[in-house]
Amino acid sequence: MTLPSQRHLFDIPANVAYLDGAAYSPLPRSVRAAGEAGVLTKSQPWASPRSRENDWAERARAAAAGLIGASVEDVAIVSAVSHGIGTAARNLPLPLPAGSRMLRVQDEFPSVSLVWDRLAAKAGAVADVVPRPADGDWTRAVLEAIARPGAPPLAVACLTPLHWSDGAVIDLDRIAPAVHAAGAALVVDATQAVGAMPVDVARWQPDFLAFPTYKWVLGPYSLAFLYAAPHRQSGLPLEENQVNRPGGQFAPGARRYDKGERNDPIALPMAATGLELVASWGTAAVEARLRSLTDRLAEDAMALGIPALPRALRAPHILGLRIPGGMPPGLIEALAAAGVYASDRLGVLRVSPHVWAEEADCDRFRAALARALGRS
Ligand SMILES: Cc1ncc(COP(=O)(O)O)c(C=O)c1O
Repeated sequence: MTLPSQRHLFDIPANVAYLDGAAYSPLPRSVRAAGEAGVLTKSQPWASPRSRENDWAERARAAAAGLIGASVEDVAIVSAVSHGIGTAARNLPLPLPAGSRMLRVQDEFPSVSLVWDRLAAKAGAVADVVPRPADGDWTRAVLEAIARPGAPPLAVACLTPLHWSDGAVIDLDRIAPAVHAAGAALVVDATQAVGAMPVDVARWQPDFLAFPTYKWVLGPYSLAFLYAAPHRQSGLPLEENQVNRPGGQFAPGARRYDKGERNDPIALPMAATGLELVASWGTAAVEARLRSLTDRLAEDAMALGIPALPRALRAPHILGLRIPGGMPPGLIEALAAAGVYASDRLGVLRVSPHVWAEEADCDRFRAALARALGRS
């Protein structure tokens, strides 16, 4: 079932085509209201029992778990993806064995690559960085890298279900079993996936998987979730505090990795409201809707002579356009001046609609792009 546009739930003027969900999503009105109510409780603390904030933490945790097919016991509340990935890095069997391999893709997001590159270098392990394949087929490239004859044994693979810069699919349904068969740990950054395409920890069986709330699940900045597989729940959090070590004991399950000052009266109700809204639509319906929009955007771009990846290699919600000759200087600004918002990521024009987007936004994008490139 395809979802109709949900623009009525947002506060977006008709002349704004915001196609930058992969960067920073606008808030649905209900999420904003949840945050405003939170600000009021902090303004007048005597009027609201603080115990309610623990309820919000558990509600947000449950909603996050539901979107990734996890048990609520296996999800920690952290402050950023880098916090989650840092927690994973602290708790996988380390140091990486000297002469082993850490595998990631080229141009990975710093919140994933920095810590693992540093740990690999420190341990004398090989940082095996899979180069961007010319044909855009990351799945094949990563599978070949895992199985490369003579390569050092794989200790850990740090992967994403799609490349953040251009939406190229990295199919973890096919890659995760190969990582497991190699006896390696799997760390997943699902930032650009949760809420817009299927993410299921039962299928991928990652050791750890992290995602934030401020993009595809329509929540606040400064909040993220970390799934920790049951056999990874005896490690150390990055910070030790009264919520993850109540009474000095570690909290059960993944809660032992919860962040300090977890019970945020503003962010948690916002996060829970956004996550529950996304869950109410269902990922499959969101995915179908966004696929129809990016298909339309891709066709329009191709009509302007701008290639896109083949449909089977691109994610439903992020379209990367490589303009022949490179990104023209001032293009993003020219689009913004026409009320069209997209991003330059690594020289790619990244267009990423979410549920607020309408077909009219695609038309506005095509017209503004044609004008900016002098092709109208
Ligand atoms: C792939 C990916 N991972 C992570 C993040 C955010 O990381 P953090 O929460 O550490 O700022 C982004 C933000 O754009 C991203 O695109």
